[in-house]
Amino acid sequence: MAVKVTIVGSGNVGATCANVLATREIASEIILLDIKEGISEGKAMDIMQTAALAEFGCCVKGVTNDYAATANSNVVVITSGIPRKPGMTREELIGVNAGIVKNVVENILKHSPDAILIIVSNPMDAMCHLAVKTSGLPRNKVMGLGGALDSSRFKYYLSRALGANSKDIEATVIGGHGDTTMVPLTSLATCRGVAVTNFLTKEKLDEVVAETKVGGATLTKLLGTSAWYAPGAAAASMVESIVRNQKRIIPCAVLLEGEYGENDLTIGVPVVLGESGWEKIVDFPLNDDEKIAFKASAEATRNVNQIMIDSKMI
Ligand code: 2OP
Repeated sequence: MAVKVTIVGSGNVGATCANVLATREIASEIILLDIKEGISEGKAMDIMQTAALAEFGCCVKGVTNDYAATANSNVVVITSGIPRKPGMTREELIGVNAGIVKNVVENILKHSPDAILIIVSNPMDAMCHLAVKTSGLPRNKVMGLGGALDSSRFKYYLSRALGANSKDIEATVIGGHGDTTMVPLTSLATCRGVAVTNFLTKEKLDEVVAETKVGGATLTKLLGTSAWYAPGAAAASMVESIVRNQKRIIPCAVLLEGEYGENDLTIGVPVVLGESGWEKIVDFPLNDDEKIAFKASAEATRNVNQIMIDSKMI
């Protein structure tokens, strides 16, 4: 089946996502769109020039602000907006990025009214809330990248602490996609099915949790801008589960209507991703500390949304 995926924003994250989608042939047609003249065309051509080497057959096309070219996309990944600089929080980007994301969603839906939206732009939970509240789409068609990325980082730091292969680790991060709002679920993290608490001391686990929460900030400090390989690959994994109807359980920011004790809030929880978007919220058994941390994360995330309510963005 032909699958068309559009990525709005051809910066590092968008281009990496396109590259993963192409090399793994997750979509047959990939459109990269940016407002900056030439950038999408250049990155798309660069990716296509690897087709003979990486042996893939899909088509990546770059366009400058031409939304007509995105028509009938099955999935749209929105990465537009400015990334954070060292020392900045994701939340500080709201003033600039909210207007950009709102405008992109409007333009996309004019040409792809049935698209499933994946929001990557930061502050991601708020941008996803904005998209779901202003798009008129059913809530299961809008989701934010956070948990997929943060869980992959959690697995990385756990694998280092355990001296184990990341593939043998199962671990989930829920809550907001912010340095202080992520909730890595240590009680449910396992290595080959065995709870990691059997192998790591509480002090070591606390260290892993702290490293996970600032995983993005650490990279921003090193790179001078925010990361791209892991965010791009994480977004591609969400696209894959949707377009291949894999029904994987991936933590994503979704609009809660009572689930996890929260209402009218978009925040990361585990969901089943399939061809109709996120199909089900999965109720993980959190321990008391994790419940308290999720509640605090929800409050902080709600406060960011209030900025958009006060400025009449939503
Ligand atoms: C990150 O954590 C881009 O927010 C993204 O790297």
